[in-house]
Amino acid sequence: MIGRSEIDPNNSLRFTGHHSYFERTDIMPKVIHLGFLGCGNIGGGVYHLLTEMHEEILKRENIDIRIKSALVKSIAEARSDVPKDIMTEKADEVLSDPDIDIICEFMGGEQPAAAFMQKALENGKTVVTANKMALALNWHKLQAAAVEHHAGLYYEASVGGVIPVIRSLTVSLNADDIDQVMGIVNGTTNYILTQMSQQGRSYSDVLAEAQKLGLAEPDPTADVEGFDAAYKLSILSSIAFHTRVTYEKIHREGITGISPDDIAYGREMGYTLKLLAIGKRSDNFIEVRVHPTFLPSDHPLARVDGSLNAIYIHGKYCQDMMLQGRGAGDKPTASAICGDILYAANHLGTPIVPSFANTAEPDPSMFFTDNWRCRYFVRLDAADTQGVLGSVAGAFSGKSISIASLLQRPSKVSGRAQIILITHEANEHALKEAVSSLNPDLVKVENIIRVEN
Ligand code: HSE
Repeated sequence: MIGRSEIDPNNSLRFTGHHSYFERTDIMPKVIHLGFLGCGNIGGGVYHLLTEMHEEILKRENIDIRIKSALVKSIAEARSDVPKDIMTEKADEVLSDPDIDIICEFMGGEQPAAAFMQKALENGKTVVTANKMALALNWHKLQAAAVEHHAGLYYEASVGGVIPVIRSLTVSLNADDIDQVMGIVNGTTNYILTQMSQQGRSYSDVLAEAQKLGLAEPDPTADVEGFDAAYKLSILSSIAFHTRVTYEKIHREGITGISPDDIAYGREMGYTLKLLAIGKRSDNFIEVRVHPTFLPSDHPLARVDGSLNAIYIHGKYCQDMMLQGRGAGDKPTASAICGDILYAANHLGTPIVPSFANTAEPDPSMFFTDNWRCRYFVRLDAADTQGVLGSVAGAFSGKSISIASLLQRPSKVSGRAQIILITHEANEHALKEAVSSLNPDLVKVENIIRVEN
C-alpha cells in the first residue's frame, strides 16, 4: 500500500495546477483509495507509476492516492513486484469495499470485466478502464449505471493508449462540428505493415517474427482481423459524432489478405498502406469502416510507422489536426490511466458525461451507409492478350467509374500480366459491380484496396 507523506508546515503555500491559483497545503490532502481489477502488465505499470509519482502527485494535486486492493486470478502466481498483501482472489472484496473510491479495471476481454465494472458503478464507485471491447459492447449499460449512481466512467486509455484523444474530443473539441476521425489505432498491425513495406517481406513471415519478439499476441486475430480497431472506432466515432455508433455498424476487414506486391505497386504509384479506422459524418449520414487503406505517401498518417498510433481529426472549426503517440505498452498506457485517476479524483460527484444519448442502438435519425465514396486501388492478374486492357477499362466505364492511373507489369506467370489501376472517387457498390462484371476467363481480381486522401 502506498503511504501518505507529511506536509511541510514551513512551505504551506504552493501553486496547484488543478485549481490554477495558490492555495494552502496545510489543508489535509484528499485521500483516494483505489481498487484494481487485474494486476498484470497494465496494472503493474499503473502500480509503479503511482508508487514513483506518489509524492509528486501529493505536491501537485494535494491528493494522496492509496492502492487498497488488487484482484488477481492467483496470488501465488501473481507478479512479484507488487506487494502480495494488497492482493485478493475475491472480486467482491474490491467491488464492495466501502473505502474504495475508484475501481481501475485491467482485466481485458468483455466478461467478467463488464459485469464487474457494472457492479462497481452500481456501488457508486467511479470506474477507470482501458478495456475497449468491454466498453464498446456495454457502454450504454455502464453509462446508465454511472449516471444513476453519480459515478464517473473514464476510458482515455481505451483508444490510442497514451494519446489524449478522448479528452480532446469530449472536452477541448466539444463545441466543434467534427466530421471526420481517421486513425491508426492498432500498433500490432501498423508494425506488421511497416515491416512488410520497408523489407518487402510477406505478412506471415513478419507476423511470425513479431510473435517471437512478443510484439504480436500468440493468437493475433483481434489485432490482424481489425476487431481491436473496430471497438476503438466505435468509441471514437460515438464521441466525435455525438451519437452512439455501435460496434455492429462498423465495416471491418483485417490485413491478412495483403501481399508485398500490393504494397510495392501502391508505393510505385505514390501511396502507403495503413490499417485505418475511418469515421465520417455528413449531416445525418455516417460511415464507419476499418480496412487496409492506401494514403498518399505525404499524408501525415502515412508517416506514422512501427507500433505508433495516430488519429487525424477534421472539424468545421478546428480544421485539420493530428495526435500521435504510443498506443500500447505498460508505461504509456499507465500514464493515460493515471491521468484519468487524477481527473476522477478531482471530479468525484461531477464526472464528464458523453454528450449524446448513450443507448443500446444508434439514434434513429442517423443513417449508416455502406455505399461510401472513395478511390480504389485494384490489382488484377490478366491474360496478356490484345483487348484485355480495353475490356477492363470498359467494365469500369460501364459503371461510370473513371480510372485515374494505371500500371501494367509483367506477371511471374508467362502469358499473364499484372494490371494495377487507381480510380477516381466512386461508390463502393458501383466499384464492386464493375469488378464482378470482369470476364473471369481473362481477368483474376488479386486485391481491392480503398484509397483515402
Ligand atoms: N493490441 C493493441 C495494439 C494494443 O496492437 O495496438 C491495445 O489496444
